[in-house]
Amino acid sequence: MKKIRVGIVGAGFAGRFHTECLRRVYGVDVVVAGVTARRAESREAFGRAHGVPVFESAESMLDHIDVLDVCSPPYAHADAILAAAHAGKGVICEKPLTGYFGPPGDDSFHGNRADKEPMMDAVADVMRRIADAVRQNGVFFGYAENFIYAPSVQKEREIVEKTKAQILRMSGEESHNGSASPVYGIWKFAGGGSLIGKGVHPLGAILYLKRIEGLATLGRPIRPATVSARTHEITRLPGYRDAGFIRTDYRDIEDYGMIHVVFEDGTVGDVVTSELVLGGIYDYVEVFANNHRTRCLISPTELAHTYNPRGAQFKDIYLIEKTSTQEGWSTAAPDENFTMGYQAEIQDFMACAAAGTSPQSGLDLALDTTATTYAAYVSAQRKGAETDVPRL
Ligand SMILES: NC(=O)c1ccc[n+]([C@@H]2O[C@H](COP(=O)([O-])OP(=O)(O)OC[C@H]3O[C@@H](n4cnc5c(N)ncnc54)[C@H](O)[C@@H]3O)[C@@H](O)[C@H]2O)c1
Repeated sequence: MKKIRVGIVGAGFAGRFHTECLRRVYGVDVVVAGVTARRAESREAFGRAHGVPVFESAESMLDHIDVLDVCSPPYAHADAILAAAHAGKGVICEKPLTGYFGPPGDDSFHGNRADKEPMMDAVADVMRRIADAVRQNGVFFGYAENFIYAPSVQKEREIVEKTKAQILRMSGEESHNGSASPVYGIWKFAGGGSLIGKGVHPLGAILYLKRIEGLATLGRPIRPATVSARTHEITRLPGYRDAGFIRTDYRDIEDYGMIHVVFEDGTVGDVVTSELVLGGIYDYVEVFANNHRTRCLISPTELAHTYNPRGAQFKDIYLIEKTSTQEGWSTAAPDENFTMGYQAEIQDFMACAAAGTSPQSGLDLALDTTATTYAAYVSAQRKGAETDVPRL
């Protein structure tokens, strides 16, 4: 059995669930061979908790691994990917692939007020460097977009492929009340707000399904051509009435966004994303095709509903991501690694890295998703004017 040694960059939320999933892979001998994070305390604590060797930096880990798994905040993704690819190592990268994070060292940078056209150009340059490094060195690349691997989205892939469906329109959403990461809400670390932090999930799934349709019917992916988008800062409106339930401490990002994508065949997809949703994480993609219709539930799913008359009773029970109360009816998630696609994602990445094949969610999807998102920021600056998605 082929052995793959994986090194994790980032000892936070994503680093933890990647490690859990890597240890449940079958058919490939996977070893979590190292972890690094910016702060010594957090990488040491992670190493102790998970029994993983600790390294001071991604660079110092490279000689000991085959695949670098980038689970750091978005501002750190590009450097880690480039270092790994140039060293001939495979890469897994959490969403978003990369972004624009302001002039280096400029703490006064406010992304929401900055001109978005130069941002788009800068992001395109970084993406070209990433694509060149990955392609020229012939290394494995997995874009960790879990929506692609959610069982509901994979069922839809099968339907589209086998029935040769034409997808006419899609809609999708990821919304929840903020993020657990301390640097979320700060453009210079996150590269934007709801659009890049959350909207990339349903956007990635929508772009993926249209790629699948194109490959099944035309022998080539159908790609995004233009976007129209809006962004808003609802919790910073002068008239916003804070009832204390919704996170409001964002520095310079939007807390609501919508993207209307027009594909090169003229069909469409619509993404809504926000920080303004109570009741737990709200993730779905719906497909309206010429021969069927599918509602892909990602979270909540309908696997278990539980009623709890007194919140304190469930204090040690995990119900669902980002729920704000354990009281009353809840749509409990018995296994989010399965329903959200995390386990299938890591399984596909390890199987492909071992076999030298391409994963369902790879570099091309990562590039198109990021290009579409930054084109959406340009469009939002123009109050929704139709904007071309750059071709990389
Ligand atoms: N697919 C999903 O559902 C999902 C969920 C959560 C996060 N994410 C993605 O995972 C990534 C990490 O998010 P998170 O919530 O785990 O963040 P986090 O803040 O919980 O953890 C980030 C970790 O990276 C470390 N770090 C920060 N800067 C670094 C640097 N320059 N070099 C190395 N390590 C550095 C931090 O010390 C911390 O250990 C982000 O890209 C985020 O978008 C994806």
